[in-house]
Amino acid sequence: MSESKKITRRDFLKIAWGAAGALALLEAGGIVLKFLSPKAAEGEFGGVFTVGNVEDFPPGSVTPFNAGRFYLVRLADGGFLALYRKCTHLGCAVPWDQTSGRFVCPCHGSEFEPDGMVLNPPAPRPLDRFPVIIEDGVVKVDTGTIIQRDRTGPDDIVYP
Ligand code: FES
Repeated sequence: MSESKKITRRDFLKIAWGAAGALALLEAGGIVLKFLSPKAAEGEFGGVFTVGNVEDFPPGSVTPFNAGRFYLVRLADGGFLALYRKCTHLGCAVPWDQTSGRFVCPCHGSEFEPDGMVLNPPAPRPLDRFPVIIEDGVVKVDTGTIIQRDRTGPDDIVYP
């Protein structure tokens, strides 16, 4: 003779709480895994961009990389730096103005030299930069590391 088992209200609540707890643990595990995984793939903002060969960028040039949100600047002396396009005032995207040879923010009029130095406030500090890596004549920019500066200087520039 089989005996059917009745599920009491207490049993049901135990099962429901157990299931809810297991679900919460799974979600927490997913969040931890996402946090521990690499930030961004190569070629995505937050990752490394391989932008080209040294000779692709003539001295005195400013080249935008919109996917990376940066400009690759090659100064007249041949040095490279990568500038974050985000204005250090309130964060607007700062376009390069070829005519004036400056970065000019459309929001409140801050202006920056090609190396990111502030020419006109209200921007409180130079444009942030990203590390530039040059290996075997290939230029790479690491957008995973934003470098804030109080002033510009020779340490900002990488030479091939
Ligand atoms: S956000 Fe660029 S000047 Fe204000």
